[in-house]
Amino acid sequence: MNVAVVQMEPAFGDLEANCARICSLLARADAPVVIFPELALSGYFFTDRQQLHQLALERDASLLQAIEDVATKQGKIAIVGFPEKEGDNIYNAVVLLGYQTERCYYRKVHLFYKERFVFTEGNVGFPVARVASLDLHIGLMICYDWRFPEAARTLALQGADLIACPSNLVTHIWRMAMPVRALENKVYVAVANRIGTESNGDETLSFNGRSAIYGYNGSVLAELPADVEGIAVAPIEPDKTRSKSFNPINDLFADRRPWAYRL
Ligand code: ACM
Repeated sequence: MNVAVVQMEPAFGDLEANCARICSLLARADAPVVIFPELALSGYFFTDRQQLHQLALERDASLLQAIEDVATKQGKIAIVGFPEKEGDNIYNAVVLLGYQTERCYYRKVHLFYKERFVFTEGNVGFPVARVASLDLHIGLMICYDWRFPEAARTLALQGADLIACPSNLVTHIWRMAMPVRALENKVYVAVANRIGTESNGDETLSFNGRSAIYGYNGSVLAELPADVEGIAVAPIEPDKTRSKSFNPINDLFADRRPWAYRL
């Protein structure tokens, strides 16, 4: 089965345009699972809570329904970042939705930099969606969560075969760590990163692309360049991630010694 990561430049604050773009890119991705960047529906660099509140979507938003309808019609699962509104809170969220699957939501737990000014910390833990039609277990985390090995570990311990990581990465060091998250958990990791820049006041953030799909041994299965939009596709074999042994004696999970770890 193929997995795709979409690298794009969302239009800041233009939900309708981004939704249309996501729907058309979904059709072009040659995979049943298609992962889009963090906050792909809205853009990223918000520091004004009021402005973000006006753009944030409730779970029953028609734009999410439109993406779900397109994905369902194409027999695909889409994973899309959006600002989620619930009462007075706004979460940096992703939703997994589409063909023959229940929606699964993740709200970013580790808030990066000025996200703290506008978003509320996620309160649903790290979820794993069990997609029966594909016999695939997809764990969700977002961008800066990579800095915390506990995030990927929590997903792997719950049975994730693939970790989807919608991202808006602004440093380059993640490229050393993401493949390690794959190999230390023996799971696939797919990073959908955005490109382009966004300015707020006198500060500009540059997003560095290089979206990638890593194999369960940390190898690079597919990768995009730093500064162009595109879609990377790689085949995955979920059942290969389900035994955590890597030689006849050792097993990544059976060999863990939680009593010796400080939590
Ligand atoms: C990030 O978490 N968007 C760097």
